[in-house]
Amino acid sequence: MQNYQYVLGIETSCDETAVAIYSASEGLKSHTLLSQIIHRAYGGVVPELASRDHIRNIMPLLTQSLSVAKLDLDQICGVGYCSGPGLKGALLVGATFGRSLGWALNIPTLGIHHMEAHLLAVRLEASYPEFPFLALLVSGGHTLLVSVQGFGSYQILGESLDDAVGEAFDKVAKLLGLGYPGGSALEKLASSGRPDRFKFPNPMHTKSGFDFSFSGLKTHTADLIRSLKHLDLQARADIACGFQSTCINSLITKTRLALAHTQCKHLVVAGGVASNRFLRAQFQTLPNVTVYFPRPNFCTDNAAMIAYLGYLRLSKGQRDTDLNIRVQVRWPLKELSFPN
Ligand code: KG4
Ligand code: ZN
Repeated sequence: MQNYQYVLGIETSCDETAVAIYSASEGLKSHTLLSQIIHRAYGGVVPELASRDHIRNIMPLLTQSLSVAKLDLDQICGVGYCSGPGLKGALLVGATFGRSLGWALNIPTLGIHHMEAHLLAVRLEASYPEFPFLALLVSGGHTLLVSVQGFGSYQILGESLDDAVGEAFDKVAKLLGLGYPGGSALEKLASSGRPDRFKFPNPMHTKSGFDFSFSGLKTHTADLIRSLKHLDLQARADIACGFQSTCINSLITKTRLALAHTQCKHLVVAGGVASNRFLRAQFQTLPNVTVYFPRPNFCTDNAAMIAYLGYLRLSKGQRDTDLNIRVQVRWPLKELSFPN
């Protein structure tokens, strides 16, 4: 096992540009991030604008990360860059930058799986479970229940059959006039609402198995919003609250079933939606299981998780072996493995 003292992590899979440095002996040295506000005017991520903004942001973030870590560029011993899943052009910016840096510094590089990084981000915290454990990954692109046997050993037990839960939050937030991305704004609005003023259908409630579905709930909420003559602030808050509770109940229901099925006593909840305080509080009430979350800003997209996983895999001898720059827009988690 080689000693990778300082590993650089680069995240550009969607609309967050992030750079971080993880150290074998000192832990996380720096993590920097720029959120692209440019997309707000369009109500969603515009892929071409995202790529251009990553190009603008990435070099200043590298400089900032080195400065926070008090390191020189030539002290970096390896580079992990997010190579999928995500937006192709956006991924290519980080991948090209990471590979070029590796070439220039004559150090190894490796493409990192975004969802595996979310899954293992909890290991940057003081408290995290040993393997095996169950993981619920809830982000803007994925809703996954994963049985985690070890590094790189992932069995998908359930997933969303349509919209990811974060996507549903963003769409409902937009309908409520909360802008994009609206997950955290919806949470804020929901805090002054009542969960039971409006009725919401419980997705997949009567279905066996561990899959999720959020598009029916989203359509129901859209119809409800359109049907109301007076959409005052209280009505908007009550809708946000009812919608949020219903989503989280659905996540909890299927997670409980999966916990019973796997007999796991440890649960990790990660991904952008796991930064939701109401969700965190609800999951903490689950009996007979210890629940772990990454800190909220390591639930949403960040490069700390990429640098950490880059460090783990590079230390095991994995690295890019040719000069091709590859990214994967779709990349099932189950395709991963981990070198012994
Ligand atoms: O993991 P992430 O940062 O990016 C992806 O990999 O997709 O997740 C982003 C998603 C967005 O849909 C965003 O609205 C949602 O996470 N999100 C939230 C909250 N903060 C972010 N959803 C609900 N409540 C929040 N507080
Ligand atoms: Zn993410």
